[in-house]
Amino acid sequence: MNSMQVVLSIISLAVLSDCSVMYDLNLAPHECLETKAIAADYTPLGQMILIGNLTAYQYEAPHNMNPNRLLIGVYDIYGFNYENLKQVADQMAVQSSGFKVVLPDFFRGDAWDVDRNASERQEWMDRVGDWNGIVKPDLINVVQYYKNRGVEEFAIYGMCWGGKIATLAAIELSEYFKASGLVHPSLVTDDEAEIVQIPMYLMPSKDERNMTSFYQILQSKFGDNSGHRRFDDMSHGFTGARGNFSDPLIRERVDEVINKLGIFFDHNLNETRTSSDSVILQSHKFWFVTLFVAVFIHFGCKI
Ligand SMILES: *[C@@H]1O[C@H](CO)[C@@H](O)[C@H](O)[C@H]1NC(C)=O
Ligand SMILES: *[C@@H]1O[C@H](CO)[C@@H](O)[C@H](O)[C@H]1NC(C)=O
Ligand SMILES: *[C@@H]1O[C@H](CO)[C@@H](O)[C@H](O)[C@H]1NC(C)=O
Ligand SMILES: *[C@@H]1O[C@H](CO)[C@@H](O)[C@H](O)[C@H]1NC(C)=O
Ligand SMILES: *[C@@H]1O[C@H](CO)[C@@H](O)[C@H](O)[C@H]1NC(C)=O
Repeated sequence: MNSMQVVLSIISLAVLSDCSVMYDLNLAPHECLETKAIAADYTPLGQMILIGNLTAYQYEAPHNMNPNRLLIGVYDIYGFNYENLKQVADQMAVQSSGFKVVLPDFFRGDAWDVDRNASERQEWMDRVGDWNGIVKPDLINVVQYYKNRGVEEFAIYGMCWGGKIATLAAIELSEYFKASGLVHPSLVTDDEAEIVQIPMYLMPSKDERNMTSFYQILQSKFGDNSGHRRFDDMSHGFTGARGNFSDPLIRERVDEVINKLGIFFDHNLNETRTSSDSVILQSHKFWFVTLFVAVFIHFGCKI
């Protein structure tokens, strides 16, 4: 960054942090108000844990090759009322030779639901999603909790409202997170691109703004470490609670989101990783040892 960019960043940060309207729902796509969530037929693989007074869903695949890196997933406004986000988390956990994944319940059970009156939504969002009072300290506590358990590298991804949170984390919590993924994000503006501090992957659907200029700013800051894929055949929320994962095309797009994010996070969380190459190498080692033992036993029997 040159000094002009630094000055601009400081001014924008000051303006943003002073901004009393953290979530301006007028910026949300109208589909966000109209599309309903879908009850999915899925049994999550992970478990609920308690981090201080925060409940969280955690999943780590058996034999995870990379126990030292963690993804924090941030759900959409439907919270834990629907299982899609847990399903995505379970799949994220096995991408690119593995991640631990955790979904914190920031709303503490008070998630949005279709039968609530839309006129209460702004008040509800400002209260349960309070960035400075709740979400930011929760994120720091979650990172601290896993640091105490040996995790060294952290990244964050979020959907819809969670995309805004992943953006705020990229701006204000870059000392904790190394990369941030946005899936059909709501409420994110180009001004924010100027002040994010870590590489991001942008995945808008057809219902979100054009993020090309946001991406160009990321490229000027982080080169090829960021990414952008616009899903022009998908609606807002397709990877979240509103996604019908039984629909083959949606399922295919969701898999693409997960796969691309996995590669992106693997690229940026690269200090503690055991790559899939070394998994193969290790299995070679395993076969050499097996062969050696077999030969030893064979000749051992003859002596
Ligand atoms: C949760 O714990 C934090 C301290 O870690 C505290 O500030 C907060 O008020 C608590 N929230 C609830 C809902 O009890
Ligand atoms: C929603 O709330 C508004 C304001 O409180 C009220 O006027 C309206 O009748 C409510 N709508 C429904 C469907 O309950
Ligand atoms: C987004 O904007 C870029 C130029 O800034 C343009 O090339 C592209 O076609 C636009 N995409 C959509 C979906 O409007
Ligand atoms: C989801 O998609 C399946 C397959 O296309 C379809 O049969 C089902 O009706 C859809 N469910 C909803 C709630 O739209
Ligand atoms: C890790 O990735 C970063 C980009 O996020 C890059 O600058 C750095 O050189 C990489 N380090 C290693 C050890 O590959």
